[in-house]
Amino acid sequence: MKPERVVIAYFSPTGGTKKVAQALKDGLEAALTTAPTTAPTTALPALSTQAPVIKAQGLNIKLGARSSAPSAALTLRPTIPATTPDTPDPSAKPTPVTTVNCLTVKSRHKDLALGPRDLFVLVYPVYFGRMPWALQQWPALHGHGASALVVSVYGNRAIEDGERESMALLKEHGFKVVGAIEAIAEHSQERTLAQGRPDAQDAHDFKTMAAHIIATLTQGELPEYAFDVTTALKAPGKAPAVPRILERAQCDDCGRCARLCPMQIIDPQTLEVPEEKAALCMGCRACMACCKLQCRGFPQPILAAIAARMSQIKAANPERKPNVLKLSSEQAAAPHSAPTT
Ligand SMILES: Cc1cc2nc3c(=O)[nH]c(=O)nc-3n(C[C@H](O)[C@H](O)[C@H](O)COP(=O)(O)O)c2cc1C
Ligand code: SF4
Ligand code: SF4
Repeated sequence: MKPERVVIAYFSPTGGTKKVAQALKDGLEAALTTAPTTAPTTALPALSTQAPVIKAQGLNIKLGARSSAPSAALTLRPTIPATTPDTPDPSAKPTPVTTVNCLTVKSRHKDLALGPRDLFVLVYPVYFGRMPWALQQWPALHGHGASALVVSVYGNRAIEDGERESMALLKEHGFKVVGAIEAIAEHSQERTLAQGRPDAQDAHDFKTMAAHIIATLTQGELPEYAFDVTTALKAPGKAPAVPRILERAQCDDCGRCARLCPMQIIDPQTLEVPEEKAALCMGCRACMACCKLQCRGFPQPILAAIAARMSQIKAANPERKPNVLKLSSEQAAAPHSAPTT
């Protein structure tokens, strides 16, 4: 079923995740403009259980092999039913695709209710192999059976528990998770890791993925994505270090950092994180990125420790990692592997 509405919620402390969300929005809008309102009249053959993994231009889509498809020479094109006999109805209303910024506590208290004919896309960055624990506090989010995709944006290291945490979160809020995307963006702790990503090649990947998602949804109802629900989710974590105001004289008391902190732990009077709240900090850097005077950060010894750790991570992850799309309808041949941590 073609979704009636698409809502993309993004959590982006330093901007990389927002770029991924924007590229997906562009791709989804383009795909929805050309998608037929009803399912194609020509039924597609059943999915085989031997789905091949296709890597093209850095894109890695686990595709369900059609029983009639030649296994050796698959390309992306035949799976995207731009070639179906259906033509879009010019009188049909375009499907609205909206974005919602869910960074602040305030934004997560604004009513965000979807319905069974809608598609919700949650785009978030991975921290320490986890979903940002700020998202555990989202009282105004209500799925009411809407289909959902989780998009884990990471800095070329690993996603680990992040994906299943976000899937569990959306399930708890009444969504049916039907798929996931792994997407790369520049590492916000070490900008030379995945530098410049998402780039033009990534934008092309997201466009191709968006077309495949809409084509698949238009063909029929997708089952719920199977993910690990047996391993207990972890409690909110703790960043190793909390950013502070380094030069008090430079700060003009604008209060932006306190307003934007996703955990709302910066005292609006002192503009510091009180000791009793330091354990809640995610290390997300929203407070540093939003400070126009650049007076928030880490003292030199902490910076040196972060740099040493990041150079190890960089050395261990030199390759350009691909963006990956995983849909529930194509999951049979690629069962979810247990998290590594
Ligand atoms: C505290 C912290 C922890 C991170 N942990 C991971 C990680 O475990 N794996 C990874 O690949 N990237 C990690 N990253 C990189 C971010 O996931 C990535 O840069 C993301 O794009 C940041 O989102 P933003 O640009 O929207 O702020 C981490 C970044 C920060 C600041
Ligand atoms: S104080 Fe911690 S949680 Fe709050 S914005 Fe800064 S880094 Fe993020
Ligand atoms: S954003 Fe920067 S200048 Fe504004 S209050 Fe925070 S530390 Fe001070």
